[in-house]
Amino acid sequence: MADVKKVLVLPGDGIGPEVMTQVRRIMAWLEDAGKVKFEVTEGLLGGAAIDATGGPMPEETLTAAKASDAVLLGAVGGPKWDDLPFDIKPERGLLGIRKELGLFANLRPAVVFDALAEASTLKLDIVKGLDIMIVRELTGGIYFGQPRGIETLPDGTRKGLNSLVYTTPEITRIGKVAMDLAMKRGKRVCSVDKANVLECTVLWREEMIKLQQEQYPEIDLTHMYVDNASMQLVRNPKQFDVMVTTNMFGDILSDCAAMLTGSLGMLPSASLGDADAQGKRYALYEPVHGSAPDIAGQNLANPLATILSFTMMLRYSFDMMAEADLIEQAIQNVLNAGIRTGDIMQEGATKVGTVEMGDAVLKEMDALAKG
Ligand code: IPM
Ligand code: MG
Repeated sequence: MADVKKVLVLPGDGIGPEVMTQVRRIMAWLEDAGKVKFEVTEGLLGGAAIDATGGPMPEETLTAAKASDAVLLGAVGGPKWDDLPFDIKPERGLLGIRKELGLFANLRPAVVFDALAEASTLKLDIVKGLDIMIVRELTGGIYFGQPRGIETLPDGTRKGLNSLVYTTPEITRIGKVAMDLAMKRGKRVCSVDKANVLECTVLWREEMIKLQQEQYPEIDLTHMYVDNASMQLVRNPKQFDVMVTTNMFGDILSDCAAMLTGSLGMLPSASLGDADAQGKRYALYEPVHGSAPDIAGQNLANPLATILSFTMMLRYSFDMMAEADLIEQAIQNVLNAGIRTGDIMQEGATKVGTVEMGDAVLKEMDALAKG
């Protein structure tokens, strides 16, 4: 009997639903192969939820997420909801579910596939073979710090305020995630902060040093100011193995790292909570790209980032390494064969749509499974 895995699927907005359809086909393939049984629930988040329920994060979605082994999200947001009040924008749904599930660790790998190295705007030798992991703190920092808001002062002028706050347990737990990951990779962690200006990140740096000294003697820990880190990412990205940083710095640096790989359309992410006594942890997987409303519904979107987010789910939530390897190998073969969606199109390659990219990956999975 195959194991039953409960997955909550949140297609979201824009290209979310169509890329998710391709992942559902891959899930069906794994089931047909007898590898696993998925119990899939579909839910609403972001704009889709606003339209149906009036708010971006329905209680039902949260309950379903908590009852699932893992959540797979497409993308949220779009111009249709841009003028809504701040508190009910689609993005609040995403931030809300991260916070409610305690998904403090955001893993954003930036891997350059050989076949795509030339699609990068950087020179080939700078990016070829790149494999870095950005670990972004996701439920704290300036995104959630109090006090916050916009107020009118007695003289009639206005003041906008956000607070950068981190406590030692918040810093230590994200540091551990980064160092544990590094132990399985190149054993190098670069912690990114702004300790020359911001006290909060002076504490961040001190706690990272303490953690390394007390628990990770084998880790080579270095520190970088965020402005320098952004420069180093485009100057010589291969100097990094694992980077660990705050919520906002991670938001910015991960977009930058994404472009090293040639396209946002290739990058997956995992957001993980703490493991409970039984080892179960909440987890949400989503592509780094947005909802791309300009190309939605036209069979133009690249489904690979969402498919790769699903393989992260297989690895981090279900311990299904062989299946994750198989899918990733299939993707590599497809790219090596010159099959491309528009975002990664190169001269001489074959341009395909969302569905055809799904077809191609499934066909390669068939071929690999037959040996
Ligand atoms: C991301 C996005 C989100 C963030 C937005 C949509 C709230 O940019 O996941 O990187 O800032 O975290
Ligand atoms: Mg971002």
